[in-house]
Amino acid sequence: MNQLILASWPSKIKMNLSLACIILVLYSTIFVADAAIGINWGRQTAHKLVPSMVVDLILQNGIKHARVYSTQADILEAFAGSGIDLSITIFGAIQVRTPEAAKKWVQSRSEFFDSCNISRVYLGNHVFRDGITNKSLLNMSLMALESVQNALNEAGYGRVKVTLPSPEGVLINITRPSDAEFRPEIKAEVESTLKFLQANNAPFVVEIFPISHVIDNGWDVSFAFPDNKSTHVVRDVNGAVYTNVFEFMHDAFVWALRKAGAPDIKIIIGQVGWPTDGYPGANVSTAERFYKHLLPYVVSNKGTPMRPGAPIDTYVHALTDENKMPYFYPFARHWGIYASNGEPKYKIDLTGQDRDIFPPKVKGIMRMPQRWCVFDGNLTDIVRVKNHFYYACTHADCTSLAYGGSCSQLNFVQNISFAFNMYFQSQFQSEKACGSDGLGKVVTENPSTGTCIFPVEVVKGEIYESADGSRLGDEMPIPTIFVFLLSVLWTLLWD
Ligand SMILES: *[C@@H]1O[C@H](CO)[C@@H](O)[C@H](O)[C@H]1NC(C)=O
Ligand SMILES: *[C@@H]1O[C@H](CO)[C@@H](O)[C@H](O)[C@H]1NC(C)=O
Ligand SMILES: *[C@@H]1O[C@H](CO)[C@@H](O)[C@H](O)[C@H]1NC(C)=O
Ligand SMILES: *[C@@H]1O[C@H](CO)[C@@H](O)[C@H](O)[C@H]1NC(C)=O
Ligand SMILES: *[C@@H]1O[C@H](CO)[C@@H](O)[C@H](O)[C@H]1NC(C)=O
Ligand SMILES: *[C@@H]1O[C@H](CO)[C@@H](O)[C@H](O)[C@H]1NC(C)=O
Ligand SMILES: *[C@@H]1O[C@H](CO)[C@@H](O)[C@H](O)[C@H]1NC(C)=O
Ligand SMILES: *[C@@H]1O[C@H](CO)[C@@H](O)[C@H](O)[C@H]1NC(C)=O
Repeated sequence: MNQLILASWPSKIKMNLSLACIILVLYSTIFVADAAIGINWGRQTAHKLVPSMVVDLILQNGIKHARVYSTQADILEAFAGSGIDLSITIFGAIQVRTPEAAKKWVQSRSEFFDSCNISRVYLGNHVFRDGITNKSLLNMSLMALESVQNALNEAGYGRVKVTLPSPEGVLINITRPSDAEFRPEIKAEVESTLKFLQANNAPFVVEIFPISHVIDNGWDVSFAFPDNKSTHVVRDVNGAVYTNVFEFMHDAFVWALRKAGAPDIKIIIGQVGWPTDGYPGANVSTAERFYKHLLPYVVSNKGTPMRPGAPIDTYVHALTDENKMPYFYPFARHWGIYASNGEPKYKIDLTGQDRDIFPPKVKGIMRMPQRWCVFDGNLTDIVRVKNHFYYACTHADCTSLAYGGSCSQLNFVQNISFAFNMYFQSQFQSEKACGSDGLGKVVTENPSTGTCIFPVEVVKGEIYESADGSRLGDEMPIPTIFVFLLSVLWTLLWD
């Protein structure tokens, strides 16, 4: 029928129509891949949510892309058949650096390359950054990159791309985007890797942490938010104007990549987010403001001054808090859109449509009973109390007590109660973890006050102890080490 109608049209219109078709096809292959919003799910937590529940939660939020910091079978299985486009992470990448080891690894995971929609394999967390001070590690990690990609290609999984995420620490001269370049220590390796990535049509992945960026540079905090309200504005040589860290850092990478011989490589934002606790300005209202502007910007395909109109696939960091994350800044444990007990923290529309909604709750989650552990107030033996406080904070998460945190207003006694409760919850409310030494007592009245929540945690979710998924060494855990030393001291005194 259509053909008949077309046949009766004058040939000039037909020609124009086919030209339009060609243009449309070209346009859709080059430009019209809409920017994707993905989400990262890490599991450095005391209470592990059940993977199938998490997959359900991701689907309920309308998210179609996710990254896990693992290659663990039970986690990948949960994603099978979900349709979610999945990125997985190999830690200890140097173990798969030989072609033989890489081939074995691909074989061991082939079940999941078939059943899950895996599109990307990340090698380690920050190979280039760690490579600045350790060349042999860098060389071995890059060998792994090539070996794993080659093994995937040979096994018929060439659609899966291997890549390495990079934080801004791999660049220097980030005063204006056009000044930025890769650090000289790793420049040669970056250049050869870019060639390899491009030959395999793999993306370059960058990570942007706006709050750390403004803190580290001492800039106006409003520059961290993509809402064009910043008093700090960067004007670049080409007339480009930057009013937020996201576009600024994206384009700094574009310039650095151009200087390293990869002007057109696809850039993916592998981690970007906002923490809600542990630091001044890290709270639920600032997190809400951040995402309210970032996510609609991402789906608008607006691009940046250096890549106008380019879709920027962006992975939100993160789905849940990770209360066992080592940290440099105490906010490291509070990046979740959900608290570690699965409770949504603030309004966010993860589809980028700017609807005024709270994200859905985790279905079927089980909390422990409404019980808390508090300090009984006996300050007679102050040294013992202090030691117990440090012990609790070494083994559980007390970063809400940090300067600017949600519990920084507590008095001394409440401080100790907060620590005792966090330890009690981390030990699944075991009575032994509260008061067996005569300092704590279990109560059923909620001791939360003001912004400071004394949480009740989830029951032991998945019990699967494995080093897999651990991102230790990601940030220098100075405060953790400090508290740890105190607890060692306490143990010595106590015995
Ligand atoms: C896999 O993910 C892609 C998005 O990258 C999506 O278009 C596709 O439908 C998914 N495939 C399956 C089988 O779920
Ligand atoms: C570099 O990394 C390798 C592999 O992890 C390690 O064996 C070596 O000790 C590191 N060297 C330095 C100087 O840290
Ligand atoms: C690693 O170092 C070896 C020996 O110097 C070199 O031949 C090889 O190309 C390097 N590999 C990568 C991926 O940088
Ligand atoms: C980049 O920084 C280095 C040292 O920090 C300096 O020597 C160099 O001139 C800078 N390059 C540009 C283009 O500003
Ligand atoms: C940002 O704000 C400035 C000054 O208020 C305005 O001139 C500019 O058009 C705004 N840009 C966008 C993208 O809204
Ligand atoms: C969150 O932080 C901002 C910026 O420091 C501050 O103005 C605001 O009052 C804080 N909100 C809450 C609920 O703490
Ligand atoms: C307080 O603690 C001290 C020792 O730490 C103990 O001797 C005393 O009985 C306690 N007081 C009460 C009221 O429990
Ligand atoms: C409560 O604990 C925090 C963290 O250890 C500390 O900075 C703060 O000074 C304490 N507050 C009081 C009143 O002791």
